[in-house]
Amino acid sequence: MSLHLSKEFPRFYGRRIGRKLSKSGILALKAGSKYILQYDRFSEDLLNFNKKIVLEIGFGDGKNLINSAKQNPEILYLGADPFLNTTVKCIKQILENNINNIKIWPDDIRKILDLFPSKSISEVKLLFPDPWPKLKHQKRRLIQINFINSIYKILKTNGTITVATDHKILKSWILEKFQAKKKFEWQIEISKDWQNRPKDCFLTKYEEKALNEKRITSWFVFKKK
Ligand SMILES: C[S@@+](CC[C@H](N)C(=O)[O-])C[C@H]1O[C@@H](n2cnc3c(N)ncnc32)[C@H](O)[C@@H]1O
Repeated sequence: MSLHLSKEFPRFYGRRIGRKLSKSGILALKAGSKYILQYDRFSEDLLNFNKKIVLEIGFGDGKNLINSAKQNPEILYLGADPFLNTTVKCIKQILENNINNIKIWPDDIRKILDLFPSKSISEVKLLFPDPWPKLKHQKRRLIQINFINSIYKILKTNGTITVATDHKILKSWILEKFQAKKKFEWQIEISKDWQNRPKDCFLTKYEEKALNEKRITSWFVFKKK
């Protein structure tokens, strides 16, 4: 994939690649190339679909992305994740299930946020982002003021971003950062709302891990006013 990026982007600190890809992984990557979003053909690849678009940032092995796409064939799901090994797993499932309403951006989401026209995305899902719990690493967290401003710009009016975490420090960080942006409204009706996974999200690998290790998961939905 060729990237012609003129702008400086925040550095990405996570892993891009783990174990060497298996033969079947390399084959899946080839066979699934039509699902990969091309930077140079962004509009043709994505916006010409003329469908409601849901963006999932950091889809991991793709459990939520795949299940959502299967359940809602009328919606286009765009998944972004720079970690190649899990992206390949996700592409294998897309191929096995013959899914046609997913596009994958196999890189840092911050590289393409400016390409979306304003008000083009209906929903954003950010499920269990890396918490970077140490104070000295807080700049590495994805949720920063610039990121929130970009999400605000690309969301349609009344569009939502759903953020989940199982980490105490990140939970406070999420609330602090989103509530500082006065034009996002926290969707909470009863106090326990934040403890329950919203109906339109599926169990992910990281949620499962948190539940097995008896950590409380928190779910926040913020709506663009
Ligand atoms: C803790 S994992 C959670 C994965 C999945 N959402 C789940 O719940 O199982 C965080 C994921 O976010 C991805 N990620 C980290 N920084 C990212 C970025 N800047 N853009 C897109 N994805 C990112 C990582 O590669 C990783 O797959």
